[in-house]
Amino acid sequence: MGILSHDDLAGMDEADPLAWARDRFSLPEGVVYLDGNSLGALPTAAPGAVSDAVERAWGRDLIRSWNTNGWIDAPSRLGDRIAPLIGAEAGEVVVADSTSVNLFKLAAGALALRPGRSVILTEPANFPTDLYVLQSVAALHPGRVTLRTVPRSELAHALDEDVALVVLTHVHYKTAERWPMTAITRLAHAKGALTLWDLSHSAGALAIDLNAAGADLAVGCGYKYFNGGPGAPSFVFVAERHQAALESPIWGWMGHAAPFDFVDDHAHAPGIRRQLVGTPSILALAALEAGLATFEGIEMGQVEAKALAMGAALIDLVEERCGEFGLALASPRDGALRGSHVSFAHPEGYAIMQALIARGVIGDFRAPDILRFGLTPLYLRFIDLWDAVEHLREVLATRDYEQDRFRRRQAVT
Ligand SMILES: Cc1ncc(COP(=O)(O)O)c(C=O)c1O
Repeated sequence: MGILSHDDLAGMDEADPLAWARDRFSLPEGVVYLDGNSLGALPTAAPGAVSDAVERAWGRDLIRSWNTNGWIDAPSRLGDRIAPLIGAEAGEVVVADSTSVNLFKLAAGALALRPGRSVILTEPANFPTDLYVLQSVAALHPGRVTLRTVPRSELAHALDEDVALVVLTHVHYKTAERWPMTAITRLAHAKGALTLWDLSHSAGALAIDLNAAGADLAVGCGYKYFNGGPGAPSFVFVAERHQAALESPIWGWMGHAAPFDFVDDHAHAPGIRRQLVGTPSILALAALEAGLATFEGIEMGQVEAKALAMGAALIDLVEERCGEFGLALASPRDGALRGSHVSFAHPEGYAIMQALIARGVIGDFRAPDILRFGLTPLYLRFIDLWDAVEHLREVLATRDYEQDRFRRRQAVT
């Protein structure tokens, strides 16, 4: 492709089969939002859905809402909405807790399915919560279970008969590198190990097919590409074939076969509901339900195609227009190996991102030097990328980012 012009990008927007979906979001004027991989934008329907849950369901119907307004079924109902977006069947996904907690539940449960095996395998520099949670699971079995971290290129070699579970983040949070889910799952199964995929940076952005890949277990965030709002609950996938055997390490009453029998002894609920622990967070689920509704009528193949086309356009624009300013591409150039964000490394990455944010171009920074730009196919336009890169070029060319105010570290980067 030659040098991309503004007209080229406007043409891509005209040809975009998903362009209409932008109307499902309330986006602030004057902002180019490139952080929907961290916190999805506000769905237009979310304020009404949350206020209905507060005023009508909570305020008027009170506790009757558990039955009459479908509160008790919300974790399964939302799970069934997520299932087709990640290649799962109804009844294989439930919404509950946080991604960290769900990782713990599934990893601890999976270990028990592979007695006699002593290793959980992952990669170094995986998302911190994944590493910490796996360390905590290993710590429950001192001297018996270890967490082994090996670089990507050595993973296949490290997969031996000691491995109980392989835990990987499908799309890397920093670099956007994408694991070949089917190939890794096959390798793991050939050695008798199970796979647990963290889909936080791919669910809602890529055309994931968990069952076609043979995946065993998965978790992911509700607040990123699923637009469920800050701190939205997470989702859990357990392949149907494992549901009867996989136990959660936390036996809460919502995972009981008959919670309202109030008996003293635990009996696991059948199916995916045994992954539930405590009372679902209904207001958060109302927002997440509105977030998931933004995917109604959306074809995930088109979402992935747009994600990769936007990634390619962003890489081209940055390299063409900002080439002399020392930004190094930190994501795969090949779309087949990339997720839906693009990262660049620069020693002044933090200050550059702050200067961009001050101009309304919102991405984020990941230490030590990564500028991260999330590309959300449902509401981002190709011309937004043009505007973002124009600002980036100005920030770099004028050294705008050298101002002290842009160097001051905030709690969240
Ligand atoms: C790969 C990955 N896993 C997990 C999380 C977060 O988990 P939690 O919602 O429990 O904070 C993130 C958040 O950015 C993430 O990127």
